[in-house]
Amino acid sequence: MSRFNIIHLLFIAVISSCGNTEGSTRQVLSDEIKAINFEDVRATYGYKCSICHGSEGVSVIRSAPNLVSSQLSIDERVEIISNGKTTMPPQKDVLDESMILGLAMYIDSLAIAAN
Ligand code: HEC
Repeated sequence: MSRFNIIHLLFIAVISSCGNTEGSTRQVLSDEIKAINFEDVRATYGYKCSICHGSEGVSVIRSAPNLVSSQLSIDERVEIISNGKTTMPPQKDVLDESMILGLAMYIDSLAIAAN
């Protein structure tokens, strides 16, 4: 099993363990995560994001933050990836929601790989 798959499973484990007692939020989240194709996410990062943020999440342009040290929550990242910010282009009309969520999560795997 590659490191990437292990990280993927780790996310599912973490998110599954913090659901509410009803189980509905947890179910929705885990369904959303199951819909993510992480191989596609990695490829998409490579051709749409690495040009500014670097293939390992260490940015190659001055104005773009290093993603390896991002302190933002998954939701905050989804918002920035969807709507863009300053010179970062919005992706909501280009990538589907599942891909955007996958990219927000993938950033944590860049941070783990860097440490
Ligand atoms: C044209 C260069 C460029 C591209 C391409 C780009 N970004 Fe960005 N990104 C930026 C800049 C600049 C910021 C800082 C925006 C600000 O805070 O003003 C940023 C900020 C972010 C942040 C917030 C990080 C933090 O912790 O503050 C995330 C997450 C992010 N980008 C993810 C992505 C993803 C995922 C992609 C690919 C879909 C991508 N970016 C493509 C330039 C880019």
